[in-house]
Amino acid sequence: MEKIIIEGGSRLEGTVSVSGAKNAALPILASALLAEGWNTYHNVPDLRDIRTIKRLLTEVGAEVETEEDVVKIDTGALKSHEAPYDLVKTMRASILVLGPMLARLGRARVSLPGGCAIGARPVNLHLKGLQQLGADISLDHGYIEAQARSLKGADIYFDLVTVTGTENLMMAAVLADGVTTLSNAAREPEIVALAETLNQMGARITGAGTPVITIAGVDALKPTSITIIPDRIEAVTFMVAAGVTHGNIKILGCEPDHVTAAINKARQAGITVAAETDGLRVVGGETISSVDVKTLPYPGFPTDLQAQFMVLMCLATGLSVISETIFENRFIHVSELQRMGADIKISGNAAVIQGGKPLTGAPVMATDLRASASLILAGLAAEGTTEVSRVYHIDRGYEAIERKLSQLGAHIRRVRE
Ligand code: UD1
Repeated sequence: MEKIIIEGGSRLEGTVSVSGAKNAALPILASALLAEGWNTYHNVPDLRDIRTIKRLLTEVGAEVETEEDVVKIDTGALKSHEAPYDLVKTMRASILVLGPMLARLGRARVSLPGGCAIGARPVNLHLKGLQQLGADISLDHGYIEAQARSLKGADIYFDLVTVTGTENLMMAAVLADGVTTLSNAAREPEIVALAETLNQMGARITGAGTPVITIAGVDALKPTSITIIPDRIEAVTFMVAAGVTHGNIKILGCEPDHVTAAINKARQAGITVAAETDGLRVVGGETISSVDVKTLPYPGFPTDLQAQFMVLMCLATGLSVISETIFENRFIHVSELQRMGADIKISGNAAVIQGGKPLTGAPVMATDLRASASLILAGLAAEGTTEVSRVYHIDRGYEAIERKLSQLGAHIRRVRE
């Protein structure tokens, strides 16, 4: 087991590059299932979740080649239609193979993802949508069994905005007979990136990025070559790192339009954020002002940045309230932050943070991907040494985080326990 050790108190300075977005790469790599021949993906981050989806594709018979950040996938000779429990249990987003596999092969068997640390996270809306497209869905010994001789376009309304649900249904509908509309669809930049990829493969999708997506089915798709968009969550994590260390950094490769809500909140907190030609200049203020934050589907404030902003608010001058409306149990980082001296009270889906109490280094445990990022941020700002254990969580979604932070002057290293 590895842990990350941080000596707090360094002011971050310098330039950092954002990697490709994990949440864009996962559905896009899964979309390779839709066309025979070699697809080429550039700017793919080297992360544990990306290795998991590549293993999953290899298991079903795809050829996968990786050279630095370029991944090539050919799904011409599929030999299985099963996503096994062993892989799905390590990454819930494995469910993303369900839609494209069903569209391509007429059947798919995918282990039903269980709950996870941040909530129950059911996939009922994925399944209901596939049924509306004409799939037969049953559950068998913990597996989703989906079959369809041919999928037929349908009007699908999502009761809740679901990101991977929208992506799964888009990938299933591209090869269906007729037109599908997805209403109350997710609007994340990752949805737009997937739609652009599918359209480059020959799909006919309009409306991605709005609540109504229309997909006119086509007979077949062809392989493509695309570049993965930058990771907006990683970019804002660095923004917060500059804020909590009162630093001055340049974030290269960030797409400011993808992080409007977070930039607004950062500015209200006293952080200067300015667009420069190739990225964002971020300068932490002398003091941090308290701001209330409510997580919402895009373009609202992302739940994936809630834990990181909480650290910023721990260091702010007054009282702030962070409300989590997407996941029911996404405050597990709070008890670890409290061990570092934070004054946070939980009331239902809200965390009330009394800022201004100094953070002190402590041994803490990462519990999920974004929670681990928040503990690293807290360690950067804390007085003394913080040891974050269970860092495999962070390796799921942040590429070389300790190298990138060290380049900015942080005293951070990874050791084997
Ligand atoms: C995706 C992101 C994740 C992010 C989340 C919310 C990927 C790979 N992961 O996760 O980083 O935190 O969006 O922005 O892109 N729900 C149901 N039934 C369903 C589907 C979802 O009730 O069938 C609920 C979920 O429990 C949750 C809410 O809808 O409360 C939103 O979840 P969803 O958008 O589906 O999250 P993911 O796509 O799993």
